[in-house]
Amino acid sequence: MSQPVILVPTMGALHDGHRKLIREGNAIKGNKGTLIVSIYLNPIQFNDPKDLDKYPRTFDTDYKVCEEEGADLIFAPSDAEMYLNSSSVKVSENKLARELCGSKRPGHFDGVCTVVTKLFNLIKPKIAIFGKKDYQQLSIIRQLVTDLNYSIEIIAIETQREQSGLAMSSRNEQLNEIEKEKSSVIYEALEAMAKSGESKSKNLIRLGKSIIDKESQIIEIDYLEVVDRSNMAKLEIIDRPALVAIAVFIGKTRLIDNIEINFE
Ligand code: PAF
Repeated sequence: MSQPVILVPTMGALHDGHRKLIREGNAIKGNKGTLIVSIYLNPIQFNDPKDLDKYPRTFDTDYKVCEEEGADLIFAPSDAEMYLNSSSVKVSENKLARELCGSKRPGHFDGVCTVVTKLFNLIKPKIAIFGKKDYQQLSIIRQLVTDLNYSIEIIAIETQREQSGLAMSSRNEQLNEIEKEKSSVIYEALEAMAKSGESKSKNLIRLGKSIIDKESQIIEIDYLEVVDRSNMAKLEIIDRPALVAIAVFIGKTRLIDNIEINFE
């Protein structure tokens, strides 16, 4: 491939998980490509305005991270540049987006699909890189690329974790030390579920809940589901590639995580 444009879309507040995505982009671009990191805190994907208010804004540090990891350009538009007052078109995905986070955060994936479509149209990448922590988002974007006939290769990168197993997220900054420490139970539960060999989702979910509930004083489960990886629909029996997906509240902070279960 000659001179590919590679896009890493982000909302800023860059952490080691983002570094991994940018580093991957840098490795792919070789000598001739251009690696663009977009930093745009997309207001229309926040169904809760308080969540948007609390979202960390750290542009100066983000700039350094992009520079250190070999980005060639940062695309950081303003709200006015992204959304004209007169704009009235949104992009929706209507199958995968109904499940999991889509059922809990109305309008969230419309906001994601709309902004990602705009970024694809403005930047015209050959390759775009997304993290597997937002697994449902990744599946929806793959669908968007197919359905809207983009010639863009989507590359998925494994979730970067703290030593404790906690998935890296910009929202982790909102946790205090105790909450952070207790949050390791999320991945503990996911790993135990993936390793259990249990084929009935009901039993698997029971196992996961029993582990998370050790910290029920601090952590409240929003959902814990076993889904078919191809369509995000609930699975009763694990007889195909599956995903365990979880969302929890720790105080007012909502965290998500997941683990793949491979069907042998
Ligand atoms: O995953 C994210 O950070 C955002 O949802 C994305 C893809 C940059 C769109 O705003």
